[in-house]
Amino acid sequence: MKPTTLLAIEHPLAADLITRFPADEATLQVSIVKATKTADGSESKAPALKPPLKWAGGKRWLLPFLQPLWLPHSSRRYVDPFCGGLAIPLGLRPKTALLNDINPHLINFYVTLQRGLNVNIRMKNDEASFYVQRTRFNELVRRRRWQSAEAAQLFYY
Ligand SMILES: C[S@@+](CC[C@H](N)C(=O)[O-])C[C@H]1O[C@@H](n2cnc3c(N)ncnc32)[C@H](O)[C@@H]1O
Repeated sequence: MKPTTLLAIEHPLAADLITRFPADEATLQVSIVKATKTADGSESKAPALKPPLKWAGGKRWLLPFLQPLWLPHSSRRYVDPFCGGLAIPLGLRPKTALLNDINPHLINFYVTLQRGLNVNIRMKNDEASFYVQRTRFNELVRRRRWQSAEAAQLFYY
């Protein structure tokens, strides 16, 4: 696997991505909204967003320490070579970001999410469903069709 998967987000995804995840197997709604502006034209302080995935090694707990360090540089582009679960960019909400991860399935999930991901696979939380969906995911990988919306849904599940 080539370690070159790149997700370049030069528009404010990190600042503007709002995700809503239903508890059950319904539809995953994703919308991208514009940053809110105050009356004087300045951008309002955006609260941290919750990462869309649970990710091993997530750094949400670091945010209170990173925020004061980031603030004086917040007009700069945020670059994260190991973005993982996006805890830091969604917490700091930079205007522009360059995000990278070696995991191509993770990047495919984010790219699909950015386009607008509708979940139409069965997401039942039981053993039998898990093995059916895992087999399908592995089949897509084997057939080199992992860069697809279906693979993104299966990865999320
Ligand atoms: C501990 S996680 C990052 C967690 C992230 N900061 C967060 O808060 O969610 C480390 C990430 O680095 C990625 N990674 C590991 N080796 C890498 C490499 N050589 N190049 C790019 N990404 C890599 C992994 O796929 C994983 O998603």
